[in-house]
Amino acid sequence: MKKIIFSLFVALSSVSAVQAADANAGKEKSGACSACHGPTGVSGSPMFPNIAGQNDAYIIKQLKDFKSGARTDAMMAPMAANLSDADMADLAAHFSSLPSANEQAAAASSSADTSTDAAPASAPAAGSVEIVSSTPAAAIYAGNVAAGKNKSAACAACHGADGNSLVPTYPSLAGQSANYIAKQLADFKSGNRNDPIMAGMVAALTQEDMDDLAAYFAVQNTKAGTGESNEAGHKLYLGGDAAKGITACIACHGVTGKGMKQAGFPSITGQSQDYLKKQLASFRDGTRGNDNSGIMRNIAIKLSDADIEAVSQYISSLK
Ligand code: HEC
Ligand code: HEC
Ligand code: HEC
Repeated sequence: MKKIIFSLFVALSSVSAVQAADANAGKEKSGACSACHGPTGVSGSPMFPNIAGQNDAYIIKQLKDFKSGARTDAMMAPMAANLSDADMADLAAHFSSLPSANEQAAAASSSADTSTDAAPASAPAAGSVEIVSSTPAAAIYAGNVAAGKNKSAACAACHGADGNSLVPTYPSLAGQSANYIAKQLADFKSGNRNDPIMAGMVAALTQEDMDDLAAYFAVQNTKAGTGESNEAGHKLYLGGDAAKGITACIACHGVTGKGMKQAGFPSITGQSQDYLKKQLASFRDGTRGNDNSGIMRNIAIKLSDADIEAVSQYISSLK
């Protein structure tokens, strides 16, 4: 009897601990989660579960299990490793308070009914590439490949006529996702991503120009990486570093570095080690801060110089 009362007391006090959790604080802490689980807890990729509207006690239990290792997952282990009990309770309060995926889809389709001209009803014409924004409400514009080719003459000197750069300081654009290219161009234009050369290049571009250029480069063939492999870099890329809380690069950039278009994770294949090193160092010191929710800055800040050297060499060898 004593035992029953005791466990009842434990159960009740853990319920009140859940109630004391702060959903607003959880929202603040959820930036790192949104990359995979979506900003509203509904994931843009079939790889990641929806967690909006999930029971809070269940979310807390899963996070504890990922932290203790009772539930194993290469992506969630480093995410949960850094969370305190209070963080978990706040995050659970936030995600459980959000409408479920079905409720969000129903709300989006009823609002889409009233604004029929927001997105083209037909499939994009041949020779065009859909630019899908990660913001669900944004209009979908189909960039035109042929128009992009004409406009790309100004880019060829540095990025190569087919988007495969021959100079290590200039990134290749061939085969990169159109969404990512369009986002970078818009970020250079707004100053969200700083580069004196690119700022000058984009100043006169319209949104349509940027979408056309993105469409053109996206359909070019990526050349395989020519760098040498690196054992330590390979390990970090595939497994991350749980002790340092580094999420494996493979989780978002994929086995061969081609990224995940839908989720906004860029291809990093075919880039020079010099370019990769510069980007990782810039995310680490914050000079590049255009990654949504600090997704790359949160990872890069935990990388040592040796990590950056090794992982960038490994990536430059990906085919
Ligand atoms: C790099 C991508 C990634 C990030 C970032 C991430 N997750 Fe996950 N999460 C996953 C994957 C993948 C799974 C499924 C794991 C499995 O297959 O067991 C998962 C599972 C979960 C689950 C269990 C869902 C269920 O139905 O069992 C919860 C809860 C969760 N994540 C919460 C979070 C929270 C909170 C954050 C932020 C602190 C976060 N995740 C950040 C990829 C991620
Ligand atoms: C004079 C050389 C030069 C020209 C011309 C040039 N760029 Fe760039 N571009 C760069 C450099 C340098 C960077 C890398 C900036 C950095 O280090 O962050 C870059 C970066 C980019 C990126 C980001 C790539 C990534 O992987 O994140 C895109 C997209 C891009 N340029 C598109 C264009 C387009 C489109 C044009 C033509 C309208 C163009 N560039 C013209 C030098 C140039
Ligand atoms: C949770 C997802 C995620 C993980 C894990 C991740 N990245 Fe990224 N990475 C991104 C996103 C998103 C961007 C693009 C940010 C933006 O919009 O500019 C990016 C950009 C980059 C870029 C710049 C690409 C370019 O063309 O300029 C490099 C380099 C990079 N990541 C390397 C890595 C390495 C190395 C690791 C592992 C140590 C890693 N990433 C882990 C999501 C991730």
